Amino acid sequence: MNLQDFVRVLRSRWITISAATLAVVLSAVVITLLTTPLYQASTRLFVSTSGTSLAETYQGNRFSQERVVSYAELLMGQTLAQRTIDKLQLDMSADTLQEHVTATAKPNTVLINVEVLDESPIQARDIANTLSDEFVGMVRDLETPEGDLVPDSRVVVEQRASIPESPVVPRPARNIAVGFALGIALGVGLALIRDLLDNTVKTQQQLEEITSAGLVGSIPLDKERRKQASILFENETSGIAEAFRKLRTNLQFLAVDNPPRVILVTSSMPSEGKSTTAINIALALAETEKSVILVDGDLRRPSLHKYLDLVGTVGFSTVLSGAASLDEALQKTRFPGLTVLTSGAIPPNPSELLGSQSARKLLNELRAKFDYVIVDSSPLLAITDAAILAAGADGVLIMARYGHTKREQLSHAVGSLESVGAPLLGAVFTMTPTRGRAGYSYNYGYYGEYTAQSPPAREPDAEPRSLAVEAISGTTTDSDSSVGRSAGRRRRSPD
Ligand SMILES: Nc1ncnc2c1ncn2[C@@H]1O[C@H](COP(=O)(O)OP(=O)(O)O)[C@@H](O)[C@H]1O
Ligand SMILES: [Mg+2]
Repeated sequence: MNLQDFVRVLRSRWITISAATLAVVLSAVVITLLTTPLYQASTRLFVSTSGTSLAETYQGNRFSQERVVSYAELLMGQTLAQRTIDKLQLDMSADTLQEHVTATAKPNTVLINVEVLDESPIQARDIANTLSDEFVGMVRDLETPEGDLVPDSRVVVEQRASIPESPVVPRPARNIAVGFALGIALGVGLALIRDLLDNTVKTQQQLEEITSAGLVGSIPLDKERRKQASILFENETSGIAEAFRKLRTNLQFLAVDNPPRVILVTSSMPSEGKSTTAINIALALAETEKSVILVDGDLRRPSLHKYLDLVGTVGFSTVLSGAASLDEALQKTRFPGLTVLTSGAIPPNPSELLGSQSARKLLNELRAKFDYVIVDSSPLLAITDAAILAAGADGVLIMARYGHTKREQLSHAVGSLESVGAPLLGAVFTMTPTRGRAGYSYNYGYYGEYTAQSPPAREPDAEPRSLAVEAISGTTTDSDSSVGRSAGRRRRSPD
């Protein structure tokens, strides 16, 4: 993974990262709130030995410095803890008190710091002071040789404890800062793991490798399409409209000697944008004043009539069953140039119906009547309907929903097209994210490009030659139209 990949992961998985950070920071806050506050009181002890001459004093000092290390241990010992508890009549065990006492000897000095932690600030002070006083007595007993009156070493409580004002535990600011740092680390870790485990199709390279076809279009996610599937191409310059125009242009360069006119739109799974894309490919083609018929080939879960507000009961299946003539079933739409053949009533045997000679004949009739026949279909996995239709089409466009379609699903779908010898025209990414375009650009950048100074012509027929030349030259700047690298590679020569 290079830096660019890393940045892409951070950008695309910002929700994971934010959620992890928030969760850990919240935990830190909860822990902080649940932590019993502890107060710390401290005293300082001074260790001295008596001596009159300078040499004696020096030696005494050395002696004290060596002593303080042992004294620190004794200060944290059980005997002293017990003595303190007895003296203060505390309701705790010596072990517990020991855990709350820390004595540190400063190197090369004769000073010892004693720190006592307690839930009560007053008790913390009392324990620190009593413990120190008791220690003074303890040292006196220990350091006075038998029969002697003067101890070899003496401890003085040089600084007594006072009541601590604020608790030392918890430390909210530190806890939250640590929580924040840990949260980000956890979030980034999770994001990287999720990216590693992500087996959805997300790059042009993946899409082209799996399908062995070129990317011929990337349709951005456009929330409007959920309310209204069709785009009003007239005067429409939105990103999605331009994406469909590019797709249209690319389609017209596929198999130039024998341009596909019956085009099947399919994908591996439901809800990958087949119907929406089919509608708008048809509309984009109709915009060029071609006559286009859009056929709902999804006889199980038809949706074109819903998306286009048409009558769904008379259509493909009705004509096949002979209950209506083709002309009766065709429905004009409010879009100039676009006619629709909806699915008709849902038949009990869709696959059989679609594989029938009548279906083939019907498609041929439509081919004769219209410039383009765009067929929407059911998903390729699970049912054979789309593959059956694909065999009768001039070409198939396979959709992959960005970050949603799994690699193996797509490859199975391509497999089922191959098994019927369907000519794959190209692959289309649907619902690609629009946010952070630059970050994603390499994912679905096109190969040949128009330059920024010459935006894609609205007329698809404009200067195909120069486009082709640019496509070959293979510039890789962002966006705009071109023919996918290996678009139409799979297309067989027509029988
Ligand atoms: N480009 C898009 N941007 C946003 N939503 C989309 C887009 N294409 C399709 N959708 C939505 O995705 C859902 C599935 O789309 P649909 O075309 O019905 O898929 P399919 O025919 O593959 O089942 C629908 O709610 C549709 O509105
Ligand atoms: Mg559909």
